[in-house]
Amino acid sequence: LIPAVQESRLTPVLKALADEGRLRLARLLLDGAFHVSELCDVLAARQSTVSRNLKILTDAGLLSARREGRLVFYAWRADEDAVRAQLRSLVLRHGPPPDDAERRRVAHVWEERRARSADFFAKVDAADPAAAWLGSPDCLPRLAAAVPVGARVADVGTGSGRMLPLLSGRAAQVIAVDASPSMLDEARRAAGGAAVDLRLGDMSHLPLHDGEVDTAVVNMALHHVPEPRAALRELRRVLRPGGTLLVGDFLPHHEEWMRDRMADQWLGFAPDELSDWLLDAGFEGVRIEPIHSSRAGALSVFVAQATRREEPVRS
Ligand SMILES: C[S@@+](CC[C@H](N)C(=O)[O-])C[C@H]1O[C@@H](n2cnc3c(N)ncnc32)[C@H](O)[C@@H]1O
Repeated sequence: LIPAVQESRLTPVLKALADEGRLRLARLLLDGAFHVSELCDVLAARQSTVSRNLKILTDAGLLSARREGRLVFYAWRADEDAVRAQLRSLVLRHGPPPDDAERRRVAHVWEERRARSADFFAKVDAADPAAAWLGSPDCLPRLAAAVPVGARVADVGTGSGRMLPLLSGRAAQVIAVDASPSMLDEARRAAGGAAVDLRLGDMSHLPLHDGEVDTAVVNMALHHVPEPRAALRELRRVLRPGGTLLVGDFLPHHEEWMRDRMADQWLGFAPDELSDWLLDAGFEGVRIEPIHSSRAGALSVFVAQATRREEPVRS
């Protein structure tokens, strides 16, 4: 008699991924969280097909589904799990990449979201108690302390410029970039008399020359960017070879309201995933330090540090 074989943990996920349509869907969802009708548009697929494939991937434990108002957003599950982390890497490196038409349609989704985020930051009221969520103070001193004395530094997504007084004390040159003119006005006030070069621009096309800075700091801004992987490649471009990227942001969390009220595109980043993205974008020596705050109700954050590699970016 042949004994019954017990199903391993891998079997349901491998079965779920053993289909070209679901593999394409899983590959696309590595670029961000999408709701069903966005996925139907991007993949030019019927809603019944997309919904069925999403259900299979979700039931297999690969995806999470989050309701926001009348929309349900799907994304890769962010909780740490060795199997998921390895599958995510495998799908990213070897899964079917989006074709040109899909890329164009994804760009359209990002553009719409970017416009919503810009609209939010044009109107944000710093006196609103919810604005306390705009950045975690826990990261600031650690990021500033990691900036080498005498460096040329860019504070990307500078916001109200809280980082600027800390940076201008140690850097030789400070460039502050933000996509929102009204946030740049706030940053100008925060800089006080310090010599800070304020530049309006988006993280996907930074207003900086190739290799213009030694260090780039991005605190609590990456989660607002629809395409963080493209932003990391752009940050690499503006760093000199051997230069340092410093990122402060949230660890994965479940505060769904922040998508709507704070224009957040990503509910934090998993260190494994961010590390993969940094390596892919052309960085090395990645170190990510989680910081669990003692403030009641505060979300956990991390500080990541990476060095710009010299050789070309992996495709
Ligand atoms: C939560 S605030 C953080 C500000 C600041 N770094 C801090 O720690 O206080 C996020 C800032 O990122 C900016 N931002 C969002 N998306 C951006 C993008 N794609 N390019 C440049 N800046 C962006 C927003 O305008 C906002 O000022």
